[in-house]
Amino acid sequence: MNNMNKLKAFALAFLLLTLVTAIILSFTLGLTHPLPWVFIVALGIVIVLNKKMTESQFVTWKEEYSVGIKSIDTDHKKLLQLINRLQTSSIYQTGEAFDKEALDELIAYTKFHFAREEKMMEENGYPDFDAHKQQHINMTDQVVQKIKEYEDDHEKTIEDLLDYLKNWLINHINGTDKKYSAFLLEKGVK
Ligand SMILES: [Fe+2]
Ligand SMILES: [Fe+2]
Repeated sequence: MNNMNKLKAFALAFLLLTLVTAIILSFTLGLTHPLPWVFIVALGIVIVLNKKMTESQFVTWKEEYSVGIKSIDTDHKKLLQLINRLQTSSIYQTGEAFDKEALDELIAYTKFHFAREEKMMEENGYPDFDAHKQQHINMTDQVVQKIKEYEDDHEKTIEDLLDYLKNWLINHINGTDKKYSAFLLEKGVK
């Protein structure tokens, strides 16, 4: 677990323990006393906020991401799932082997997906093929670079990598991929 996550987990555990202790102790004042109920509400708020903060780190598929081509949408959904798997691994610290496995699967599927898109674009004579392919190359290079950093310094870069992947993928799916898909759909690709 990296130091920041350790600190957050420790702070949360400490807060929960303090609130539970405060609830138990304040009940000695009697059930009609407002203090234990105030602590119970505070405990509820902390739990809900923590759940919301955890959930906000995951990416969810939205219908607006659809490029209208089934195989590509399926790939994009799978990529988001794989990012979430890596995110789960990072949050719950399921171990370095699990991180590596999730990362390897994500990289392998990204390469497979890029190859599928590039083949479709090339076969159909997409005019911006070179620029699009270059974006894929740049992204792959960046990820390789970030993995190297991650391997050298486990403390921070898995989060960096996740942020980069989430932003890049959502922007790419929602922008660049939609340009070729509009062209391919006109050509009758489904
Ligand atoms: Fe794509
Ligand atoms: Fe693409």
